[in-house]
Amino acid sequence: MSWIEHRDCPKTGTRLCALSDIPDQGGFEVAFGKGDENFRILLLRQGDLYWTYRNQCPHFSLPLNFHPQTFVVMDSMVICAHHTAFFSFDDGVCVDGPCAGAGLTPLPSTFFGGEIYFGNSET
Ligand code: FES
Repeated sequence: MSWIEHRDCPKTGTRLCALSDIPDQGGFEVAFGKGDENFRILLLRQGDLYWTYRNQCPHFSLPLNFHPQTFVVMDSMVICAHHTAFFSFDDGVCVDGPCAGAGLTPLPSTFFGGEIYFGNSET
């Protein structure tokens, strides 16, 4: 199933967070829906740049974090808390770990006035 068909996928234009909510060189999660199958979005930031991915590791389809808003980051890579896969901020590709070569699913977003919104003109 594509992410866009997920029952909890937010509508285009839904506010996710402010850029300043994301720690620099860190991650921030925004979740929609309830339960283990909810729709979880991971935002990563480096200075004025940010990236938006589904918070779902391609290894076992688990969230990358064990605890709320706790993401392990090193050298512009986010590390899955389960089996230590390393994902680049800028393309979401796993550069080391059990799912090397696979990647996080990028999600569309729009930045306006310091705020980040889900979707773009194509969604
Ligand atoms: S679930 Fe992420 S590395 Fe295994």
